[in-house]
Amino acid sequence: MANMSGNTDGIPEELRAKVDKHLEPFTLSLEKLKDISIRFKDEMKKGLGKTTHHKACVKMLPTFVRATPDGTEKGDFLALDLGGTNFRVLHVQVKEQKVVKMDSQSCAIPQEIMVGPGKQLFDHIAACLSKFLDTQNLKGKTLPLGFTFSFPCEQKEIDKSILIRWTKGFNCSGVEGKDVVKLLKMAIQRRGDFNIDSVAMVNDTVGTMMSCGYPDSNCEIGMIIGTGTNACYMEDIKNVQRVVGEDGQMCINTEWGGFGDDNALNDILTEIDFEVDRTSINPGVHTFEKMISGMYLGDIVCLMLKKLAEEKLLFKGQVSDALRTPGKFETKFLSDIEKPRSGLENAKRILNSLDLKWDLTDLHVVQLVCDTISKRSADLCAACLATLANRIRTNRGLEKLKTTVGVDGTVYRKHPNFSTKLEERVKELAPQCEISFLISEDGSGKGAAMVTAVAQRLARQSRLLDSDDDGDNS
Ligand code: BGC
Repeated sequence: MANMSGNTDGIPEELRAKVDKHLEPFTLSLEKLKDISIRFKDEMKKGLGKTTHHKACVKMLPTFVRATPDGTEKGDFLALDLGGTNFRVLHVQVKEQKVVKMDSQSCAIPQEIMVGPGKQLFDHIAACLSKFLDTQNLKGKTLPLGFTFSFPCEQKEIDKSILIRWTKGFNCSGVEGKDVVKLLKMAIQRRGDFNIDSVAMVNDTVGTMMSCGYPDSNCEIGMIIGTGTNACYMEDIKNVQRVVGEDGQMCINTEWGGFGDDNALNDILTEIDFEVDRTSINPGVHTFEKMISGMYLGDIVCLMLKKLAEEKLLFKGQVSDALRTPGKFETKFLSDIEKPRSGLENAKRILNSLDLKWDLTDLHVVQLVCDTISKRSADLCAACLATLANRIRTNRGLEKLKTTVGVDGTVYRKHPNFSTKLEERVKELAPQCEISFLISEDGSGKGAAMVTAVAQRLARQSRLLDSDDDGDNS
């Protein structure tokens, strides 16, 4: 196995060969990634098809976002952001081709609410919103609201969004199969101390893409690699067989986290992946996400370290209680351990905190493990991202495509070389696409306001067109 980050030297050859054997299943060749990209292309087709979509693991959900910003959007909006590590309420203004965040407030969602009754969750959201409106002196105003809800939803319209399933750490009862907008409005009515105007439901990938749309009008893909992972892109409506219409485009939320739920990726799943799935809150679903995202990377590394220790290839065969406890090896440890200069020092500190006795060779092995697991994550994202870019290119009959990906998420942002690994691989997998990456600044918050603003602009334009038609007829 190649030494990928250059910081994994210092392992005696014989030991290295033994460790490599365990890491081998996590190393994906370019050929394998090309093959995965082809499988993903077929899954996308299935998700878009009229008769096949209900069986598809990659759901390809219509978002009813039909346009990216054109610069004429304006107004005052509220935004909610639920689905990452925090819940936030924002007051956002869109004006003169800028999205200005006026103010925001984070609210913790206690663990018991994350897995409790849905009613309690929505009451909590409405209470946070009410408190925020008080502090902003906005209670008397009825503002439109963009709701970034980062879970797979079957959207019937921009303001009707049925939760398909919870992912990440959420599992509130009585919400799956229900319209999230209705549940929010009911919670607001129960309080009776404020009101909201129209609601636009937004996936975080879509918010991310839209928030990058002003600085870069080529931005037609949104991608998140954080607690969870997912991507959206602009598709020709004529290919979205579930939506009526022939002209124009619509943003599709791929929900690529579900790729492999039909066993299509079983050849690359390892024993450790099966164990992560088995012990997760939602076994059997979001297979792809569980190999990639921040919610799981720490546990994957932890299980690998435990296995190597049990094989007496690490820590002189000693396994601490911390290493046996899921969640103790945090995903941010991968970033700390892989840092070019401070990585070894960070590794010492982290292993001490996990009650492990290490020597210098152990530190290098731990670095190698982290590097291999994060590289696999970047490679898998690259394979699917390349598929999306190639799809846009072929949809347009182009030899070459220049496009921008709006991206967000703690793994992409905070890991020292994840983005480089990903970008290098995408170049190899989609050589006919020139892809730029733009980190979204608060896409979930500002993007939600932008989606709401674009929806209002399109509604305004359509009202104007209708009144023109009336004029012609009279
Ligand atoms: C959800 C997606 C979301 C992604 C990133 C996944 O678990 O299913 O809807 O976009 O996480 O937050």
